[in-house]
Amino acid sequence: MGVKAMRIYRVKDYEQLSKVAANRIAAQVTLKPDSVLGVATGSTPVGMYENLVKMYEGGDLDFSQVTTINLDEYKGLGKESSQSYAYYMEEKLFSKVNLNRKRTFVPDGTEPDSEKACQAYNEVLHRVGPADIQVLGIGHDGHIGFNEPADYFPDETHCVALDEMTIQANKRFFESEAEVPGESYTMGIGTIMRAKSILLLVSGAEKAGILKKALYGPVTPGVPASILQFHPDVTVIADEEALKEIE
Ligand code: GLP
Repeated sequence: MGVKAMRIYRVKDYEQLSKVAANRIAAQVTLKPDSVLGVATGSTPVGMYENLVKMYEGGDLDFSQVTTINLDEYKGLGKESSQSYAYYMEEKLFSKVNLNRKRTFVPDGTEPDSEKACQAYNEVLHRVGPADIQVLGIGHDGHIGFNEPADYFPDETHCVALDEMTIQANKRFFESEAEVPGESYTMGIGTIMRAKSILLLVSGAEKAGILKKALYGPVTPGVPASILQFHPDVTVIADEEALKEIE
């Protein structure tokens, strides 16, 4: 195993990344119409969702039997808040394709009791999982989902305090830094690793350093994405900028 089990697709730019990623998901849904898709938020997969919506509108994709499980959600935010991941998913995908809402799952950010929220989401994941394919982005500090650098790899859904670097990176989506929630509920690394396949999307020069560390550095919870080196079926789609420190 190790890094050799990874396929790295070098694409020219973000536009191409978005198309290739959408094609991978479309192939998944076409070959297995009742696929469980592990889905991600952040700016990286936005173009992939746009392409999936286009394919659906063109009659080339049917989501009616698909289940989606989201990676994470800010604690304190619900779908009526435009910064929540529930809102993001609604806007980018759920409202634009024929997904059955009863089969779309996002951790409940409005549940103030962390233990309850995480347990409820774990129950969902046990019932519908594992994902056939889990889409991931990568944070500047190597986080996947909201699994921040730590001294161990958390197994299941848990509540995390966001790192300063993550708050800085994500404040662009909020009116001010003070509005970025300090905590979030995230799927654990164990759950992510139990997905049958992983699709890691990385774009831009600012991710080049952390991508190299994640793919070729030591496997350590200090760089959460490095655990992917141990997954048997990982596809990385990255643009030239993101790959500029590799090869
Ligand atoms: C966010 C999300 C992650 C995402 C990452 C990168 O904090 N919780 O799921 O992959 O950060 O985001 P972006 O794609 O905007 O760089």
